[in-house]
Amino acid sequence: MPFPHRHLLGIKGLNEPDLIHLLDKADEAVKLSRQREKKSSTLRGLTQINLFFEASTRTQSSFELAGKRLGADVMNMAVGNSSVKKGETLIDTAMTLNAMRPDILVVRHSSAGATALLAQKVGCSVINAGDGAHEHPTQALLDALTIRRAKGRIGRLIVAICGDVLHSRVARSNIVLLNLMGARVRVVGPSTLMPSGIEQMGVEVFTSMEEGLKDADVVMMLRLQRERMAGAFVPSVREYFRFYGLDAEKLKRAKDDALVMHPGPMNRGVEIASEIADGPQSVIESQVEMGVAVRMAVMETLLLDGPDREAGR
Ligand code: NCD
Repeated sequence: MPFPHRHLLGIKGLNEPDLIHLLDKADEAVKLSRQREKKSSTLRGLTQINLFFEASTRTQSSFELAGKRLGADVMNMAVGNSSVKKGETLIDTAMTLNAMRPDILVVRHSSAGATALLAQKVGCSVINAGDGAHEHPTQALLDALTIRRAKGRIGRLIVAICGDVLHSRVARSNIVLLNLMGARVRVVGPSTLMPSGIEQMGVEVFTSMEEGLKDADVVMMLRLQRERMAGAFVPSVREYFRFYGLDAEKLKRAKDDALVMHPGPMNRGVEIASEIADGPQSVIESQVEMGVAVRMAVMETLLLDGPDREAGR
């Protein structure tokens, strides 16, 4: 089945069949990754460059492993974010790499829209691995895969996304995806960490964990993004944990079999209690496994089923 997109810049712009295509393919990638022989030759001969302007360990290693399992040649490039002439640096770097004829560029950048800008300049497929507080589409896809495999469906589930929604690209991508797939989405957090007008994204807004978690099927915690905060958004970490940290008491409000999720890296004792992160309802490790599978599925789909599939670049 052909896939109509050359890039994956966000969940926005995709439709439900696109998402199902990617998730079904990711299920196959999970099987491959659970075998002793984990390598296929689907992307043999192709070059993948991971271009990370913002430090990341888990997302970068997940993309690297995904490319290697598909047989691609993978190069990692960590570029420091220079504060001057950011735009110029971004485009210059991209053009230099483009001249080396990669087939896929995986890009993380601290500015929203940076990946989309780059995609206009280069001749290959671009995957957004997180741009500022805008989107992180592979994270939303891996969350969806984790939920679908644990619950058998996504439609009609109540999903509570909790914490620092304001600074979270994970929340944004998830809200768009979960709505497309028919879930009921809630966002829960202090009003200082809630973007104004968020209701327009099709979510119910709660400032109380007790109310927002009531009968939830999925509790998705977000990292408190202290590095993106300028000014005082929360009075203190202790205070934050008391009202918004996920502990056993608050989790009782959700359904008994509710899934607990976190994109990582976790601030234990800040947004989530250790006993919950490591507890029986947590699917946090499964999210990491699904991450590799989803990234394999995305790269394979863009390069094999996308508009460039016969270009023979
Ligand atoms: C997320 C990110 O970078 O947006 N983490 C990740 O992809 N490993 C979530 C976060 O940093 O809070």
